[in-house]
Amino acid sequence: SYLYILHMPRKLMSSCRSNHVLDGCGHAVLITGCDSGFGHHLARCLDQKGFVVFAGCLSPGGAGAQSLVRQSSSNLKILKLDVTRDEDLQQAKKMKKVGSVGFYCLSGLWAVVSNAGISDWAEIEWSTIEDFQKMVDVNLFGSIRTSIAFLPLVHASKGRMVFVSSIFSFFYCLNMGAYSVSKRGLEAFADCLRVEMASFGVKVPIIQPGNFGQATNILKRKTALDIWNKLDDEKKRIFGREYIDLANDYFTSTCRVGFKDTDPVIAAMLHAVTSARPKHRYLLVSTMEMFFFSIFPFLPTLLADAVFSLKDRKPKLSF
Ligand SMILES: NC(=O)c1ccc[n+]([C@@H]2O[C@H](COP(=O)([O-])OP(=O)(O)OC[C@H]3O[C@@H](n4cnc5c(N)ncnc54)[C@H](OP(=O)(O)O)[C@@H]3O)[C@@H](O)[C@H]2O)c1
Repeated sequence: SYLYILHMPRKLMSSCRSNHVLDGCGHAVLITGCDSGFGHHLARCLDQKGFVVFAGCLSPGGAGAQSLVRQSSSNLKILKLDVTRDEDLQQAKKMKKVGSVGFYCLSGLWAVVSNAGISDWAEIEWSTIEDFQKMVDVNLFGSIRTSIAFLPLVHASKGRMVFVSSIFSFFYCLNMGAYSVSKRGLEAFADCLRVEMASFGVKVPIIQPGNFGQATNILKRKTALDIWNKLDDEKKRIFGREYIDLANDYFTSTCRVGFKDTDPVIAAMLHAVTSARPKHRYLLVSTMEMFFFSIFPFLPTLLADAVFSLKDRKPKLSF
């Protein structure tokens, strides 16, 4: 019985956490980036649970959006939504009625899942300002644009603003500069929104997936030659082909590992949308990685940086 008392607070916590208040009926959710990956799977899952799903797609006529239509009920509506285009967001906001459902009927708009994103990899010295701008425009400003457009509706329903971030919001490594900048900015935005919305009953959960590159279309495929051809003569001389090959091997080897399906992320997203007590952050990494990623933000910089040195991996390179 002592043991029971000791475990009671934890049991209470976990029963609150798993207490799904919503069965979907009458609740609408808007998801960005549903052409493929997490957004696509979440849209189908919420549709099956009876939610009214507004699935934002970059290409509504494309294979991803069309398969979503085929596999879903008539309560799922595809929206043309490029999160870099204000016009698309304004147009989406006008969507008041879709058959018998719309943002302004039933229980209003319960949740927005800001999921659309892109990735790329390159060392900062190989990058242009346009590379950074493109990344930030989709991953950061895309989420901010979507939030500004739909926050009043979620505010009215005391619902959820869910953001799909990444371990790269706090973890950094070689070649992920632009992506890390975009996701760290996204979490700063989500953190500020969470404290502002706390007084109004709106929850702001953040999803932090680890390596699900094999389970979605997020990985930008390119070869060492693609990178080499993009460099000017001065950078070719500074880096040398051997270094580019090494960086490419390093990246492609990390792509071969990781989760093979999206289930853990979809379960976390579902919890974030439906639970009475969503978590502030959902860190989705393997059990082996959990310890490392939990302590990473607290490691001394010298120690953290040492993990990533290519120089140590290949001492014969003349840096
Ligand atoms: N997979 C991972 O390992 C991982 C890890 C951490 C975080 N994440 C994050 O998870 C989110 C979803 O990515 P995913 O892994 O599911 O990859 P994904 O399969 O590539 O899905 C991303 C979706 O966003 C769409 N998109 C791209 N640019 C857009 C724009 N301007 N406006 C609207 N939609 C746009 C893509 O459309 P197209 O298919 O037409 O390009 C695609 O449907 C992203 O925010 C990503 O950063 C992924």
